[in-house]
Amino acid sequence: MRFKSIIATAMMMPAVALAWPWSTDMMNQPSIKPQEGRMLDFPARSIPVGGIPTTVADREASKGMSNPIEASSESISKGRTLFKIYCAACHGMTGGADSPVSGKIGAIALNDSYVQENLTEGWLWGTITFGSYVMPAYGVPQGKRGSNDLNVEERWHVVNYIKNGLVKDHAATTTAAAK
Ligand code: HEC
Repeated sequence: MRFKSIIATAMMMPAVALAWPWSTDMMNQPSIKPQEGRMLDFPARSIPVGGIPTTVADREASKGMSNPIEASSESISKGRTLFKIYCAACHGMTGGADSPVSGKIGAIALNDSYVQENLTEGWLWGTITFGSYVMPAYGVPQGKRGSNDLNVEERWHVVNYIKNGLVKDHAATTTAAAK
């Protein structure tokens, strides 16, 4: 009778039923769990899956690189998406240096002539890859300042967006805001 009432209570309160010590037996193993501990550095000479390796040593060396990816509408659109994820927090949704932190950290406007006319595509790619003075890197292995979040092609898509889509996007947002 007593046993039956325990079962009945457990059925009414599934959260309690799952809290028995044996409910988590399978989880508590010596294996490493997701997010546990420090992620190991990439082995030397690793390259992204399905990607091409970064072959230049620093931003200076990337200055004269030519962009291997055509600025097609598909590439620009991929670049726009990546830009919103990785760059907009500091540089603004359309690169106008108008995000809440832009001014605080000194993120520059990417739609002005300094970036659009003076900086080469290779330099932009190098800036994304190796970072700048304050800006973090997006293409270096762990252990250096920044991350390895964007593969070589993705960095060129962002460059294509900066040079071929960002100015128009920014103008559209400012006209919309003025209305
Ligand atoms: C954490 C904030 C932050 C993020 C995120 C960020 N930037 Fe920057 N970026 C800056 C700051 C600050 C500067 C100006 C100071 C410097 O050069 O470090 C800058 C400078 C630049 C420059 C000018 C470099 C030069 O030679 O003067 C370019 C181009 C640029 N960023 C592009 C990007 C792109 C593209 C992304 C996304 C992949 C990005 N930034 C993400 C903060 C950021």
